Amino acid sequence: MKICRTKKSLSSLSAAWHRAGETVAIVPTMGFLHEGHLSLVRLARKKARRVVVSVFVNPTQFGPNEDFAQYPRDEKRDFALLRAEGVDAVFAPTPEEMYGADATVSLVESKLSKVMCGAFRPIHFAGVLTVVLKLFNVSRADVAVFGRKDAQQLAVIRRMVRDLDVPVKIVGAPLVREKDGLALSSRNTYLSAADRVRALALHEALDAAQADFRAGKTDAGRATAKIEKALAKACEKVDYAVAVDADTLEPVRTLGRGTLLAVAAWVGKTRLIDNHLL
Ligand code: PAJ
Repeated sequence: MKICRTKKSLSSLSAAWHRAGETVAIVPTMGFLHEGHLSLVRLARKKARRVVVSVFVNPTQFGPNEDFAQYPRDEKRDFALLRAEGVDAVFAPTPEEMYGADATVSLVESKLSKVMCGAFRPIHFAGVLTVVLKLFNVSRADVAVFGRKDAQQLAVIRRMVRDLDVPVKIVGAPLVREKDGLALSSRNTYLSAADRVRALALHEALDAAQADFRAGKTDAGRATAKIEKALAKACEKVDYAVAVDADTLEPVRTLGRGTLLAVAAWVGKTRLIDNHLL
């Protein structure tokens, strides 16, 4: 497995692969890898001959009072896991390598990134889109794999690729959960044992909503009110509980196939997100 610390080294590697007629997939991550990330890597291996994984805690997507400094990091362990998956290259630049000191351009999406998490994290998606477009440009990837755990992120990235004619194919991958239903997340390491139990409320509330839907209850307002009530019992604060179209993120009045039920809530000092795609 090649470890690329500079943009130039990754671009040259990818160019050589392309010259040899090989396709390239990228899996962007912020490291502290878990089975959710590794499932994306396995999917990427089916989509292209070569797989690159980026491990980069992107400073521009964290707000001033967010957890950039505390975000968990363990490069050695990450690299060992990726080597075991047969990954061809890891891209792990420093923030200085990734961003010039005087960068003045960033990418703003004006609709999908303003709702849900975007309403609470105003600069987040501009940071995500900017780094993701840079990763596409540097890696020259043909395919990029993203998890449905971050359903809004996936929708915003698909929109960028559509609106800016970015020559990459976006693949969405299923959300991976612990046995007890908790969505895997690098941020779960912040949870105390007691908070981890309370965190199950997110997935339980979504499960109950899905069961109601299957039983024929399709009123979106009632469904989200019930989810919010259940979350309010277990969590410090509920940022949102919504029923939206998974592609446009516009609210729906009636639940149906393709409706995304999505939540964000605080358990202790940790902000968690989860969703179910009906
Ligand atoms: P990160 O949170 O590390 O997630 C990297 C990728 O793994 C994302 O596509 C995310 O959706 C996926 N992922 C995380 N947990 C998952 C789970 N339980 N099941 C399935 N997929 C899961 O998302 C980011 O990093 C960053 O915003 C990034 C896109 C790398 C830009 O900096």
